[in-house]
Amino acid sequence: MRANQRAKCRVFEPGHCSSTLPVTVSDYDPLMPSSICFDRAAAFYDQTRGFPPGVDAEVAQLALQLIGGRTPILEVGVGTGRIARPMIAQGARVVGIDLSRAMMKQMRLAQPDAQLIQGDAMRLPFADACFDAVVAVHVFHLVGDWQVGLREARRVLRPEGVLLIGNNHHAANPVRALRNYFEQRLRPDEPPRSGWRLVDEVIVPALLHSGARMHFVESKPWTTHTTPRREIEALRQRLWSSTWSVDDEQLGEAIADVEALALAQFGDLDTEVELTHQFHWRCFEGLGRCKLG
Ligand SMILES: C[S@@+](CC[C@H](N)C(=O)[O-])C[C@H]1O[C@@H](n2cnc3c(N)ncnc32)[C@H](O)[C@@H]1O
Repeated sequence: MRANQRAKCRVFEPGHCSSTLPVTVSDYDPLMPSSICFDRAAAFYDQTRGFPPGVDAEVAQLALQLIGGRTPILEVGVGTGRIARPMIAQGARVVGIDLSRAMMKQMRLAQPDAQLIQGDAMRLPFADACFDAVVAVHVFHLVGDWQVGLREARRVLRPEGVLLIGNNHHAANPVRALRNYFEQRLRPDEPPRSGWRLVDEVIVPALLHSGARMHFVESKPWTTHTTPRREIEALRQRLWSSTWSVDDEQLGEAIADVEALALAQFGDLDTEVELTHQFHWRCFEGLGRCKLG
């Protein structure tokens, strides 16, 4: 799809929904579980998570089509501006908030006049109903309590505003399966901590159930190449946030198991594997009438 073509859009209708649950800044409980701040990733985030040329503009354009000229836009967990920067480049007025000054410093290098605020998604420093769109990409699984983050997003949205939740989508592949095995190996009693699972399996059903209406769009697919060795090296270098809370011994043991599995599956750690990716946007309307638990 070329940048100026409209994306195919699927609409999900909600069931009936009634009352609202007002949440204010004063509801914040400082004893809530803590979030995962990305200070340590600031220096390598764009190299390891960045979009290939052109995909960034397409992802931003899809978002702006869904937002439909509403402004201003708040991006919660703006990070280095991977999402916000191309939106601003296309004329959008975006305010970014993040726990990590180091991540936002990277954004400011590329976008010196960006409107950035250090703050917590669970206690947004904004009045009620002051944004027309809230954007959240790969963030709710890192927020100490995603339900509080979601209620805060709803609080700062005007009644006719929209919430956009985005994520990279990776087609199933054997290298990805190594990462899933690694996650399971580290935390056998927990479900995998990936962002898309929280969005797909928990947040989307919760929002639809509570009465929101959802539009879904996806980018064109793009491909990258990797090898099992590169994926294992990324784990060793702790590039992914799931590796940050374990000690060196736990990490080393889990990596040794992943290596053994990779050798059994591929025979050679340098086997080249093609990965297919897409970006998914889900746009929720009607949150003002929703009952969020
Ligand atoms: C995986 S990065 C995503 C950044 C950006 N949205 C993107 O897609 O590239 C998640 C970001 O959320 C931030 N974050 C985590 N918990 C947060 C919270 N409670 N409030 C604000 N930002 C938070 C992290 O510091 C990090 O910069």
